[in-house]
Amino acid sequence: QFTPRVFSGIKPSGGLTLGNYLGAIKRWCDMQGPAFETVFCVVDLHAITVWQDPADLRAGTREIAAGMLASGIDPTRSVLFNQSQVHEHAELAWIFNCVARVGWMNRMTQFKDKAGSNAEKASLGLYAYPSLMAADILLYHGTHVPVGEDQKQHVELTRDIAAKFNHDYKVDFFPMTEPVIEGPATRVMNLRDGTKKMSKSGESDMERINMLDDADTIAKKFKKARTDPAPLPETLDGLKDRPEARNLVDIFAALSDSTPDKVIAEYSGAGWGQFKPALADLAVDKLAPISTEMRRLLDDPAEIDRILRDGAEKARAIAAPILAKTYEIVGL
Ligand code: ADP
Ligand code: NA
Repeated sequence: QFTPRVFSGIKPSGGLTLGNYLGAIKRWCDMQGPAFETVFCVVDLHAITVWQDPADLRAGTREIAAGMLASGIDPTRSVLFNQSQVHEHAELAWIFNCVARVGWMNRMTQFKDKAGSNAEKASLGLYAYPSLMAADILLYHGTHVPVGEDQKQHVELTRDIAAKFNHDYKVDFFPMTEPVIEGPATRVMNLRDGTKKMSKSGESDMERINMLDDADTIAKKFKKARTDPAPLPETLDGLKDRPEARNLVDIFAALSDSTPDKVIAEYSGAGWGQFKPALADLAVDKLAPISTEMRRLLDDPAEIDRILRDGAEKARAIAAPILAKTYEIVGL
């Protein structure tokens, strides 16, 4: 009985990376169309779960919005807005804080990764992050959430919260959201350490491709990407224990709308001296038009703010009645 509706978001906690683009934004663009209503969000309330300089946060919000627009998110076909401009997110998150159990949060691996060995010093917001994410999605009765692999556990928790809410209040109000984790780039890895995912907030800039990197920087980063010395194998099977090599093949496949199998078929036997420059050329080819458009948009921040404000109004038109109904169900 639920309208097929996509919800997803990105934190303005640093510049957009190739991981965000291939694992999320590029796939969001493909979902715009008659099959789904699409709602996309810059999730600034999530960003402040770790310290953000206020001016950087404001600039980061515009940069993420510009990245989405430049990649092809169309504000006439999708709702595109900034989370903190729709206060209903924080209100539903509070209700979900009272539905979710402490034990559920204790199992979240992203909290453990982000809090590190000093969890006592992490913000309470970082701990409750998955509850806010559930609110983001369920405030729109989101049925499908296209994300990277790193978010799978959070979408599962969203289902747990929806199920417990529906059970406790004897309603069938929130949908069982499906994670949509598809394509060759569900987990783009760090270029210097193939065991970690590429992230906007990583230690060193050489670990990631930023959407605003210029052609020379992209080429240099791929050239310096860590790999083993062996050439590319005959079949994908040969990459089983070669995560760094597999990562570069996956990136190539995702950028060229191909599959890792086809990339291997084309490049089997090639050494890195051949494959890395081909990958860099491909990346520059695909990313340069996006970064050029991002820069153009960022020259006019007032226009980005206007688009986000319009988007927030459209978002609230969906969110406000759902929050009002939730209050009624809960007895608030
Ligand atoms: P980050 O981890 O870079 O701060 P976010 O937490 O804001 O990114 O995630 C935004 C979206 O990008 C999510 O859908 C997430 O799954 C996706 N994503 C982030 N990093 C990667 C990656 N390395 N590979 C694939 N998808 C990713
Ligand atoms: Na993430």
